[in-house]
Amino acid sequence: MSGAGPLVNLPAMFQRYGDIAFWRFLHISTYFFENPDCVETVLVTKYRSFTKGIGVRANPELFGNGLLTSEGDFWLRQRRLSQPAFHRTRIAAYADVMVGEAETIMRRWRDGDQFDIHRAMMQTTLSIATRTLFGIDLGQRMHIVAEAMDAFVRQNAGLSVWRIFFKTPTLRRMRFLRGVRQLDDIVYGIIRERRASGAGEDLLSDFLRAQDEDGSSMTDKQLRDEVMTMLLAGHETTALALSWAWFLLATHPDEQARLHDELVHVLGGRLPTAADVPQLTFTNKVIRETLRLYPPAWVISRRASEEVDVGGYRVPEGSNIIVSQWVTHRDARYFPEPATFRPDRWTEDFERALPRLPAQLHREQFRADGGCGPSGGRRAALQDLNGAGCDSRAHAEYHPAPGQWRTGAVEESLSMSPTGWRTISSRPFAR
Ligand code: HEM
Repeated sequence: MSGAGPLVNLPAMFQRYGDIAFWRFLHISTYFFENPDCVETVLVTKYRSFTKGIGVRANPELFGNGLLTSEGDFWLRQRRLSQPAFHRTRIAAYADVMVGEAETIMRRWRDGDQFDIHRAMMQTTLSIATRTLFGIDLGQRMHIVAEAMDAFVRQNAGLSVWRIFFKTPTLRRMRFLRGVRQLDDIVYGIIRERRASGAGEDLLSDFLRAQDEDGSSMTDKQLRDEVMTMLLAGHETTALALSWAWFLLATHPDEQARLHDELVHVLGGRLPTAADVPQLTFTNKVIRETLRLYPPAWVISRRASEEVDVGGYRVPEGSNIIVSQWVTHRDARYFPEPATFRPDRWTEDFERALPRLPAQLHREQFRADGGCGPSGGRRAALQDLNGAGCDSRAHAEYHPAPGQWRTGAVEESLSMSPTGWRTISSRPFAR
């Protein structure tokens, strides 16, 4: 492999070697599977033969043993316990929060303004995540949470194997650890208050109420780990998806105009509700196409916990496995003209014709054994993106600010972070 990072190397490797590639660095073997059958074997059929990979295990101080990082029976139990929190009706009830937070940000924008769209989306989705998790406005504590999240993102910027393995005590890492301690204080404090006052109507209360078949419920530590997981899993990913949607729309004025027409037609100037989501068909296609081109989580890693056969290859115990949405979503066999932003490709027929896994990889953003989150993560994400993602009053049009790159340059990081462009400018909608 060349000195370039995996966002360049993985597609290049696929071009050169096809569906399955293998390399060894020192004593560590790594397999890259692009073949849908192999990906399905790793993530679905034989998922018990794998543990989670280096990506999700890179920040144990923050995630603890939450759904993203836990394994085996413990993971299954936590998933069972989290199920009610992600019920369809529960997620629908959060729509007002999602739309309200987006409105708060957008109301500040004036015609001709230039704004850092990724920053704005990070603020919006963080407010949504904290309000839906805790059911309260965090007030002064919000800036501590935002600081801690920012420290997390910065600590993970760049893919440094050195940092992941050796936990080098850099300034960034110290800032991250301080953020985790401050978050712990806030989260444990809210858990204590909530236990004392009785449950409310939010995700934390659902976790508190959840009981397993034997009558046991989550300890404070388990609650803390799940809350931290949701805070991050539900915040940065959706912010990234929204930022990329803004970028794609700002650089594709025709598609932007069609989106605005749909919003005017369906909403007629009012704010959207959860009931509007099915009618916003073009908006939904824009979201799908955005997630295809710029999947916020662009790679999934696993580790073989035993020797296992994948696609006829004997994968020894201890091997690393990599599968990548970034590569699969741009595979011309499944997505003709893969680099083109074309929301209209997402017809029902097109989806039906996709091989099982690329369709699932795309839709579920992986974890094909139940979707992201306890199947409700995806539901929450889609609603979040619909609710928070559009200037629902359709009063302005958006463009990259002068001097901004018009290519979707991506930073090498654990997530698909934008780089080289971030500033968008608005002007009154001309039509
Ligand atoms: C566009 C938005 C999102 C994307 C692209 C995304 C992507 C992913 C991916 C790829 C995984 C699998 C990671 C792995 O197994 O290695 C995952 C897991 C997870 N996500 Fe999301 N996610 C999104 C939104 C959300 C939201 C809104 C929530 C919660 C409110 C959430 C909660 C979770 C949880 C709890 C897991 C762990 C699931 C488990 O292993 O049981 N995600 N997500």
